[in-house]
Amino acid sequence: MDQYLVFGNPIKQSRSPFIHQTFAKNTKQALNYETKLADLNGFSVAVTEFINQGGKGANVTVPFKEQALEISDELSDRARLAGAVNTLTFINGKIIGDNTDGEGLVHDLLRNNVQLENSRILLLGAGGAAKGVILPLLAQNPASIVIANRTISKADALINKFGDSRLTACGFEQTSINVYDVIINATSASLSGNLPAIATTTVSKKTVCYDMVYGKELTPFLVWAKAQGAAKVIDGIGMLVGQAAVSFHIWRGVQPEVETVIDQLKSSLAQE
Ligand code: ATR
Repeated sequence: MDQYLVFGNPIKQSRSPFIHQTFAKNTKQALNYETKLADLNGFSVAVTEFINQGGKGANVTVPFKEQALEISDELSDRARLAGAVNTLTFINGKIIGDNTDGEGLVHDLLRNNVQLENSRILLLGAGGAAKGVILPLLAQNPASIVIANRTISKADALINKFGDSRLTACGFEQTSINVYDVIINATSASLSGNLPAIATTTVSKKTVCYDMVYGKELTPFLVWAKAQGAAKVIDGIGMLVGQAAVSFHIWRGVQPEVETVIDQLKSSLAQE
């Protein structure tokens, strides 16, 4: 049976085996997918071992996404611009690196009927998570994407890297001058129970707010967005399943259905 796995450290918490095994069952693909804890300084050795054992592909999560980019022989544009790889495919002795996180986000937004074309998007954060979604978001032809970050110099550096006239950068205080159609929280603030300090005036009753983080409860950002009267709040569980679906398609050439897997994950989260 074809072997796949996800490398990370820590990795026990990963829901990727459940997601990929469910995709495989639903699409009748014969494959096995497991987690692999790699030593913090043993990532590339672990990948080589897996290739030697006949592994077909792998996902990569924290903290190895940048190293995965370095060991790739070939890269997609979206992986190169993201500066990170979450999907490795092993073909004819070569390592092909891709990044499906941004596509996963875009698919989840579109699945939730969020209009991206001609929209004004506010992207919060300028770290790895934000960087990974910029190119796929630009591909949806938004009117503009404002990247707001606590440390403004990092947002500036990001827009210089992409060099696209639809991108601008600002600090959180300056977010007050506009209302946005879509606000995406790509900061890690939710992981520590914090809220990015953006202006309340950014949200109207038409604004959709998305947090890449998910959990049993709404994140602080989504609680705040609801209190501001946002049209819709969405957490990152669909992005997680969405990025897995794009990886699955790269490996198997089959598009898995995501809806039921998202529902299953939501109900298992609710029981935790
Ligand atoms: P990731 O890969 O999750 O993006 P990262 O590269 O370390 O992680 O980036 C974390 C992002 O979350 C940064 O944009 C960070 O802002 P700074 O650049 O100012 O550090 C942002 N962040 C983390 N905690 C935050 C908080 N409490 N409020 C606002 N932004 C926060």
